[in-house]
Amino acid sequence: MYDEKAVAGAMAIHTDTYGTDPTTVSYAPGRIEVLGNHTDYNEGTTFSCAINMGHCFCISASDKPGVRLTAGDIGVTAEFDPANAEPLEKKFQWANYVKGVIYFLRSHGVEVDGIDCTFLGSIPMGAGLSSSAALEVATAYAVLKYAGKQIDKIEIAKIGQKAEHDFAGCSCGLLDQFSSIYGVHHCLIHSDFRTLETYPVKLPDDAVFLMINPHAKHALAESPYNARRRSCEKAAAELNALVGYNVSALRDITFEDFEALQGKIDPEAAQRASHVVGEIHRVEEGVKLLAEGRLEAFGQFLYDSHEASRIAFENSCVELDIVVEAAREAGALGARLSGGGWGGSAVALVHAADAEMICGKIIETCQAKGLEPTAETIIPSAGAIIVK
Ligand code: GLA
Repeated sequence: MYDEKAVAGAMAIHTDTYGTDPTTVSYAPGRIEVLGNHTDYNEGTTFSCAINMGHCFCISASDKPGVRLTAGDIGVTAEFDPANAEPLEKKFQWANYVKGVIYFLRSHGVEVDGIDCTFLGSIPMGAGLSSSAALEVATAYAVLKYAGKQIDKIEIAKIGQKAEHDFAGCSCGLLDQFSSIYGVHHCLIHSDFRTLETYPVKLPDDAVFLMINPHAKHALAESPYNARRRSCEKAAAELNALVGYNVSALRDITFEDFEALQGKIDPEAAQRASHVVGEIHRVEEGVKLLAEGRLEAFGQFLYDSHEASRIAFENSCVELDIVVEAAREAGALGARLSGGGWGGSAVALVHAADAEMICGKIIETCQAKGLEPTAETIIPSAGAIIVK
């Protein structure tokens, strides 16, 4: 399922703006992260899914050189040279995800120039649903189609990640791009960021995810995200010197060895790493629980994950804690912050039959605490596609 409204909207804006229909149209979804917080850049594993909201990207040829890019929601057009390696000024930050992807595609022999582009999406900005990764993936799919080229999906994900690193200043992992590319309808995606393999895990029929956004705005490039990554790398390096095997990333340390050795490494690094090591453990145990259809136990892992975020990784915020507590009181099977943290959305796992009732209760409790949250039911959806 893809967001037909976003696609129709983007195409109409493109035609209005440039006076010609787009010849190439792509669509890529956002994601929710279900379990495996900050494990991706530690070469660990995650559960996530693509969602029923995404970005559409349109292209048509122009007789002028350069790239013109219109953001459909604000009706602003940025213009840039596709061979230029510098990010655009801050007021065009939204265009940098596209510029970065177009620029890095060049090192894969994919060069485009003289194009008019438009994008439009249904993913709310700052909701922690990977709006930027959806835009990167949609850009790559459309540009590749337009240029008549193909590259491996893993390379597409890495190009999106490079755009984040070098054009947006966030040292993210590959979770968001993988989820947008490899999504499968009504499935979670289990990703391994060492082997770079993914496989779909079918959800029990009565499992539903609610996404609750308390509207605490965040921007990962300005958050402590990069500092957390450095703490994790420090913990891995210090653990490597203590154990008798190679710890090139936190993925390598066993749960038991970490428990035994965490007191011997830098306390701040140990505190951050405890969250990541716990998350990798929960994902791997979670695989078995889902296979056995044990949704209650899986849901408890979501609560455990949030607690570790709150206490050890310190990437939650007051608003997200309120949502998670409200979900617990309302009887959700599990709930946790989803994605980078320091804002964004929380995801709650519920039985389908309870979804409406629990969603209503969460909203009520949050409103009583002064928040004005919005909530959506997430339909785990297929990954990116070429529409035209
Ligand atoms: C953001 C990043 C991802 C991942 C998550 C946390 O979404 O872009 O790479 O690190 O945070 O799990």
